[in-house]
Amino acid sequence: MRSAEGAVTHSFTSYADVTAALHAPELSDRSAGSEGAAERGALHADAARELSTERLDDLTAELQRSALELAHQLPLGEPVDLLLAYARPWCSRLALRTIDSRPLGEARLLQLAEEVFRAAALATSRQDIGSATAPVGALAGALTGPRSTSLAVQAFVALSQTLPHTLAAAWHVLASVPGAWRTLRADRAAVPLAVEELLRLASPARAVFRRACTDLVIGDTHLSAGDEVILMLDAANRDPAQFPDPLRFDLRRGSGGHVGLGRGMHPCAGAAMVRLALGVATSALLDVAEEMTLAAPVTWLDGFAIRAPTSLCVVLRPGA
Ligand code: HEM
Repeated sequence: MRSAEGAVTHSFTSYADVTAALHAPELSDRSAGSEGAAERGALHADAARELSTERLDDLTAELQRSALELAHQLPLGEPVDLLLAYARPWCSRLALRTIDSRPLGEARLLQLAEEVFRAAALATSRQDIGSATAPVGALAGALTGPRSTSLAVQAFVALSQTLPHTLAAAWHVLASVPGAWRTLRADRAAVPLAVEELLRLASPARAVFRRACTDLVIGDTHLSAGDEVILMLDAANRDPAQFPDPLRFDLRRGSGGHVGLGRGMHPCAGAAMVRLALGVATSALLDVAEEMTLAAPVTWLDGFAIRAPTSLCVVLRPGA
C-alpha cells in the first residue's frame, strides 16, 4: 500500500522476517536520532533499576501471598469470571503499588489506563499509537515520582491492563487444552516452561509498528526510507517454519524464541515482571483448583494491535 507521500506500508508475518525487522536498527517506532535513543536509554535504565532481579525477588513473596489470598476467595464448582474476580483486582493492586501518590483517585487512574489500553489495541498504524493523548497526558500528570514519566505511564497501563488480559488469555489456553491443567498441577516445575509457551500462544500483543529511517532489506523485501512497517507478532509466533504444529500447546517445545514480549531493538522492559506474575498467579490457581473448564464462550477485545479476552468464565473444581 502506497501513501500520498509515496511511502509504502509493508506487513511482515513470517518468524524470520518479523525477528529480522525487530532487530533492525534502521527501523524505529518513534522519533529517530539521538533524542529518541536517549529517551529509550533513560527508559530502560529506569526499568532495569525498578524491575531489577533483587527488586523482583523481594516482590515475589508478596505477590504469592496476595495471589493466594484472592484465589482462595474464588467460588468453586460454579461459574466465575477470572478476569473480573481475580486477574483485574490482583493486577490493579500491583499497578497501584508502583505509584507514589493518587491525586486523581484509584478508580480514575484505572479508568484512564483502560482508555489508553483500548486506544492502543485498536491502533492500525504508528501514528494511531499516540492518539490517546488526553488520557496519556492525564496519567503522565498524575504519575509523578522518581521514575521517568514515560516508564511510569507505560508500567501503570501494562500492569493494570495488559497484564490481566495476558493472564486471562493464558488461562483460556489452559482451560481449552485437554489435560493441560492436570499436567501442570502434577508437575509444578513445568510452570516456567508453560509460561513461555503461554506467552507464545496467548500474548495479547498482535502487531507493532515501525518506520524505515533508511533504505534496507528485510528477507526478500526492499524498504525505502520513510516506509511504514507492520510486524505481526501473533503470526510470527504461529509460524510453522519456526514452531512445528504451532497451535499445539507443547511444554516440550523449549523456552524462548517467541516474540510475545517483543525483542531486539525494543524489548519489553517489563518482561521479567510479566513472567513472574504469570507464573505466580497461575500457581495460586493451581493450588486451589484441581480442574479448570470453560463455562461460557470467551468474549474478546479484538483490536488490530492487541487481542485479548474481556471475560473468561470458568468453573474451578476443588482439589481432593
Ligand atoms: C503484561 C503483558 C505485557 C506484554 C504482552 C508486553 C508486550 C510488549 C511488547 C510486544 C513490546 C515491544 C513493543 C515494540 O516492539 O514496539 C513491549 C515493550 C515495552 N514494554 Fe511491555 N508488555 C507487557 C508488560 C509490560 C510491563 C508490566 C511493563 C513495565 C513494567 C512493560 C513495559 C514496556 C516498555 C517500557 C516497553 C518499550 C520498550 C522500548 O520501547 O524500548 N511491559 N512490551
